Amino acid sequence: MQKILDPMSGARMFYFDKNNKSVLFGDIRDEEHWTRQYKKLEIHPDQLMDARKLDFPDNSFYMVVLDPPHLINCGKNSDMAKSYGVLEKAWHADMKKIFNEAWRVLKPNGTLIFKWADKDVSLAELLYVLEREPVFGDKKPAANKAGTNRFFLVFFKDE
Ligand SMILES: C[S@@+](CC[C@H](N)C(=O)[O-])C[C@H]1O[C@@H](n2cnc3c(N)ncnc32)[C@H](O)[C@@H]1O
Repeated sequence: MQKILDPMSGARMFYFDKNNKSVLFGDIRDEEHWTRQYKKLEIHPDQLMDARKLDFPDNSFYMVVLDPPHLINCGKNSDMAKSYGVLEKAWHADMKKIFNEAWRVLKPNGTLIFKWADKDVSLAELLYVLEREPVFGDKKPAANKAGTNRFFLVFFKDE
């Protein structure tokens, strides 16, 4: 079994090696799209999975990577939605389940990496929902042209 789990890996855009053998790539969908810029999005997880209810025993992985959808205000058929997915209205409950499942399958002394972008939901609201504090991360990242900040947060399972 791979040592790193990414249960929401989408098109693996942030990976230097999209076939890194240390990573188990999951997602809730297996599909392909063409964007309006004629870029092909290939979402082919190693395993289909629902990050809200993972089918792995407790303490399975040394690292878990979470990059959940972060957009509320975007059309379901937009390029952004196809690339990143969309948050449901009741996203608080889902986000808690996703974090708690990731934490459960993480080994003691394992690391959880969480990526967030604050276009529709602030980092403060996300951390309020998670009820966890990262050890460190991007506290004041540079915003992109649209004014959205992207954060990488590092959580440590100190047990
Ligand atoms: C922001 S994208 C991930 C992008 C990815 N990190 C990359 O480098 O390209 C979020 C992904 O989460 C997936 N997703 C949404 N809900 C999910 C769930 N409950 N379980 C697993 N994957 C889910 C979406 O299909 C989407 O591909």
